[in-house]
Amino acid sequence: MGEVIIRGMLPKDIDQIMNIERICFSLPWSKASFENELRNELAYYQVAEISGNIVAYMGMWRIIDECHITNVAVLPEYRNKGIASMLIEKMIEICRCSEISDMTLEVRVSNEPAINLYKKHGFFAVGKRPRYYFKPVEDALIMWRKMP
Ligand SMILES: CC(C)(COP(=O)(O)OP(=O)(O)OC[C@H]1O[C@@H](n2cnc3c(N)ncnc32)[C@H](O)[C@@H]1OP(=O)(O)O)[C@@H](O)C(=O)NCCC(=O)NCCS
Repeated sequence: MGEVIIRGMLPKDIDQIMNIERICFSLPWSKASFENELRNELAYYQVAEISGNIVAYMGMWRIIDECHITNVAVLPEYRNKGIASMLIEKMIEICRCSEISDMTLEVRVSNEPAINLYKKHGFFAVGKRPRYYFKPVEDALIMWRKMP
């Protein structure tokens, strides 16, 4: 694996992000949603690039002094190499520098890889949102991370 570069998402990345989105999620976001996110000054998106190719991305919204993680996805052939961890650590650093005190997210209750990833980086489960997801219908686990 070549060097992993973590950097802010740019308009030219959107086609590659859409490919990741379609591979990783049963209900992928539209191209227009990502274009809107790039115009949204409260949205922060980071990508992981290897040899010029986007292999992963992660997004969050700033809401007053909290951060809401919107999405994280890594192409299957690049998983278990610490790439999501690099993205999450970058987001934590951005929050620390922006005086954001707490971070939160929802995740499918069956998504063990993602739940483990978040726990590894200091998130803990606080409750569930029943039937939050479709395709298939499933509860969401609500997780929070408090800045030390
Ligand atoms: C969840 C996901 C983002 C993890 O990405 P990744 O780059 O493979 O994660 P990392 O290599 O940084 O792993 C960090 C930790 O996550 C956990 N983890 C990752 N993959 C796992 C798996 N298959 N099973 C169990 N735990 C796993 C482990 O705790 C791991 O730490 P460890 O290596 O010390 O055991 C990736 O599997 C993915 O894109 N899944 C599909 C999209 C998705 O479900 N996104 C989350 C939506 S909320």
